[in-house]
Amino acid sequence: MAVFPIRVFGDPVLNTPAQPVETFDDALRRLIDDMLETMYAAPGVGLAAPQIGISKRLFVYDVGDGPGHLINPELTDSSGEWEFDEGCLSVPERFWPIARPGFARLEGVDVEGEPVVLEGEELMGRMLQHEFDHLNGMLLLERLGKRERKAALRELREAAFGISRPE
Ligand code: NI
Repeated sequence: MAVFPIRVFGDPVLNTPAQPVETFDDALRRLIDDMLETMYAAPGVGLAAPQIGISKRLFVYDVGDGPGHLINPELTDSSGEWEFDEGCLSVPERFWPIARPGFARLEGVDVEGEPVVLEGEELMGRMLQHEFDHLNGMLLLERLGKRERKAALRELREAAFGISRPE
C-alpha cells in the first residue's frame, strides 16, 4: 500500500468533474487500499480520487464505523438541514460552518461492481455529500454563502501567494 500526496486548493483536478469507473480489476482494488491508507494517514473521514489526482468517480471513507468505499455514486435522496463546521483535506486546516441537508443517500457500486446504498444523518450524511461534490469538481467553498465564499477565496489566494493585506 502507498500514501499519496493530497492535492490542494488551486489544483485544477479538484475543479474537474471525474469520469465513471469502467474497469473493475485488481488495480482498482489496490487504488482503494491506497486511498484508505492516504485518508487514515492525513487523517480524514473521507477521500475522493480527484484529491490524489485521479479523476475517477470513487471515494473512500470511515466515519468511525470502519472503512468503506463507493464507486460511480448518484445522490438519490437528501432532506432536512444541518449546520456543521466542515473541513476538507484539500483545503487544509480550515473549517467553515456550512448548512446542508442532514440526511443523504448515495447509490453506486462496490469494487466488485455490486450495487451499494449508503445513507445517513449528520456526519455520515455530510461526508456523503462532501465526497459526492468532489466527484463533480466541487469544493466545500462553493457551499458557502456569497460573502463568506469571497472572503475565504481571498484568504486562500493570499496564503498561496504569501501576500498579506494591510490592516
Ligand atoms: Ni474534501
